[in-house]
Amino acid sequence: MFLKNSCIYLDASATSRFKPRSVIKRVEYELKNSANAGRGGHAFALKALKTIEECREMIESVTFSGGNTIMTKSCTEALNLAIFGLKPGKEIVTTVYEHNAVLRPLEKLKRSGVKVTYLSAPDGVITGGLLKKRLGKNVSLVVMSEMSNVTGTVQPVSELAKLLKEREIPFLVDGAQSLGHTYSDYTDVTMIAGAGHKGLHGPQGTGFLCYSKDLKLEPLIYGGTGTSSLSLVQPAEAPEGFEAGTLNTAGIGGLSEGIRFTLKHKDEIVRHINALSERLTDGLKNIPDVKIYTPNNNGVVSFNIGVIPSTETADLLDSVFGIATRAGIHCAPLIHRWLGTVSQGAVRASIDWKNTASDIDRLVYAVSEIASGRVKRNY
Ligand code: ALA
Repeated sequence: MFLKNSCIYLDASATSRFKPRSVIKRVEYELKNSANAGRGGHAFALKALKTIEECREMIESVTFSGGNTIMTKSCTEALNLAIFGLKPGKEIVTTVYEHNAVLRPLEKLKRSGVKVTYLSAPDGVITGGLLKKRLGKNVSLVVMSEMSNVTGTVQPVSELAKLLKEREIPFLVDGAQSLGHTYSDYTDVTMIAGAGHKGLHGPQGTGFLCYSKDLKLEPLIYGGTGTSSLSLVQPAEAPEGFEAGTLNTAGIGGLSEGIRFTLKHKDEIVRHINALSERLTDGLKNIPDVKIYTPNNNGVVSFNIGVIPSTETADLLDSVFGIATRAGIHCAPLIHRWLGTVSQGAVRASIDWKNTASDIDRLVYAVSEIASGRVKRNY
């Protein structure tokens, strides 16, 4: 049996643990050279502003250019800005595959009278044909995650975006899990929200919303912007009107480096994650009693062992084998309802660029030990 002597991190969907050296160096540099962007005309403040502007450009290189890019503290904040920032319409279309960062803001709107329609498909993929059938005349927004944080299933957002653009329906993509993995064409997407600390390998506390300049959004947060300071009214201009309060300049500098690193190694990272994913699902498939919920090789592999609660399996993986995974519902309740795993949850192993074949083999071995009953919880 492998004893716990080193920790294998397989929880990249929660956050990337392997930060590139350039990210760490840049965060340190920005902290040592702190100044407040847009809050003064001195050279230090102007340099901080350059750090922010550089990051907007880097973000646009993985999303789309020509729109507004708002810096936020997380993808959740960006999604809230998008959902609450739009004038509320009569109906919003979404999917059962969403994270609570989408579901909970929508639930709030639902309780104030907005109709919310939840789509699903037998294989988890929302095709253009399926979406078209559900687009009534009152739909004011379609929102969906590009990659599920539970099954890794990817939605064809470029195709859906074209279709929605033709019908002039705003389309919000939750890119929390997909950015840094999928490299889709987002030209026709109206809004895309992202997290800096996952596939883009930046620091936590960074996120963003990119949205088309044709869209009229209301801010989520009101306060000082460093502009029009005599006015008590929030400036309407983007990005500053949407970024009240001091920005996380050090984190944002780090995010620029994270994106640079991710883009530089784009093909090898995607290839590596796909290969390890396949190795993991192949290994798990050979273990009796293991049920896999992931039908792809996108780096997010969810499974269960028989009827063992997912939290128990994850605890054993951690405490006996030193392997970090995430169990439970993953803040995505409706997909677990769809999978039939509400009471058991699922164990999720999510893979990043620095994981190795040996990490995967140790996980497969650990799962086979638990499945065989040789390793169990001592009550
Ligand atoms: N949304 C993140 C996850 O799936 C935190 O784990």
